Amino acid sequence: HRATPTDPADLAVPASRGGCPFDPPPAYEQALHTAPVTRAGLWDGSSLWLVTGHAQVRAVLADQRFSADARHPGFPFLSPGRRELVTRATPTFLRLDGAEHARQRRMLTGDFIVKRIEAMRPEIQRIVDDTLDRMIAGGSPADLVSAFALPVPSLVICHLLGVPYEDHTFFQSRSTALLDLAAPAEDVGVAQRELTDYLRELTGRKRRHPDESVLGRLAARPDITLEEAAAMGLLLLVAGHETTANMTALGTLALLRNPEQAARLRAEPGIAKGAVEELLRWLSIVHLGVPRVAVEDVDLDGTPIRAGEGVLCMVSTANRDPEVFPGGDRLDIGRDARRHFAFGFGVHQCLGQPLARAELQIALETLFRRLPELRLAVPYESIRYRTDMIVYGVHELPVAW
Ligand code: HEM
Repeated sequence: HRATPTDPADLAVPASRGGCPFDPPPAYEQALHTAPVTRAGLWDGSSLWLVTGHAQVRAVLADQRFSADARHPGFPFLSPGRRELVTRATPTFLRLDGAEHARQRRMLTGDFIVKRIEAMRPEIQRIVDDTLDRMIAGGSPADLVSAFALPVPSLVICHLLGVPYEDHTFFQSRSTALLDLAAPAEDVGVAQRELTDYLRELTGRKRRHPDESVLGRLAARPDITLEEAAAMGLLLLVAGHETTANMTALGTLALLRNPEQAARLRAEPGIAKGAVEELLRWLSIVHLGVPRVAVEDVDLDGTPIRAGEGVLCMVSTANRDPEVFPGGDRLDIGRDARRHFAFGFGVHQCLGQPLARAELQIALETLFRRLPELRLAVPYESIRYRTDMIVYGVHELPVAW
């Protein structure tokens, strides 16, 4: 069988990228072609199953015998800080299974369904235009990350959740610490505590004085503790701006490096939807994978996985699998990319995906339409990538127009 376990020491998580900052690490691409279920080693000397193929990733994420609950022994942590978080924080549905997961998620599904988000498009467009107006007024060049890519989703999620945007310097810096693999565990713990205190205070206030925001209605529910509401608020706040912000900036860079694709985005009305799917697929910003732990023995495509063994689903390579995406190493915004796993798959598939899609479609379409001369303001080689962060992207993106 082609799934031959390698020596875990040969394949590390995380692995370094090759020459192209948009491509997954060459070692993972090689695993995709030779052994889509294979052993790999983690920072703490432990090992896990690295799953790189599209069919195999799908099989794991659709199977309840692979748990998302990090309290199970054997759950793979990507850094000491990630382990610290789980031992201290109140678990949210991202890291719960079965009925516990469903109970929390159900409280929010109505707020993130396509219909709700579609009704928000005029508001998102207004935020995108206002933010772009401010960036343009500041003059060329500008850092696209701090002037556009980060404020847009941050303003949108604050509006939706009912979090005061004035506090953005506070919660953005703490979010960065939470997602940084290189941060010492103590710093991650401190960031977690400070954000939790902030959200507990905010949800407590909303519980006493309910409002119509997502957190306001959550806090007013009798069937949820304040601890849980605050933890869910933290998850939504962090997931709601870091991911979309990095997709916007890295997506812009990808389009600037593939000018024929940017030209198509400008020229073809209605292509923005497909372009965003293709960028999500090609860039796969949840680049260190989606972690699970087997809670029963499972045969995965011929490979026996034992209860208690960790599994990491590499959505980045699954999204390049030639069986599903022929010529998938090329960015082609006209391609049908809908089967990508950038938002995960199965019961934990991203709750915020309708929102992320609407934001990305509006932000990228508007940016390239309003600034037809948009270009890099620094040499391409000088750009710094978020290799040590859970969510991939660029630290800054100096642009001119
Ligand atoms: C789950 C990616 C935007 C909220 C996930 C998962 C992925 C993902 C891969 C699955 C994790 C797992 O199975 O363990 C992304 C990407 C985004 C994005 C690439 C943007 C481009 C957002 C936004 C929100 C959000 C804007 C905010 C509101 C969540 C939540 C979950 C989740 C709450 C947990 C769902 C569950 O466990 O049932 N996301 N996400 N995400 N995402 Fe997103």
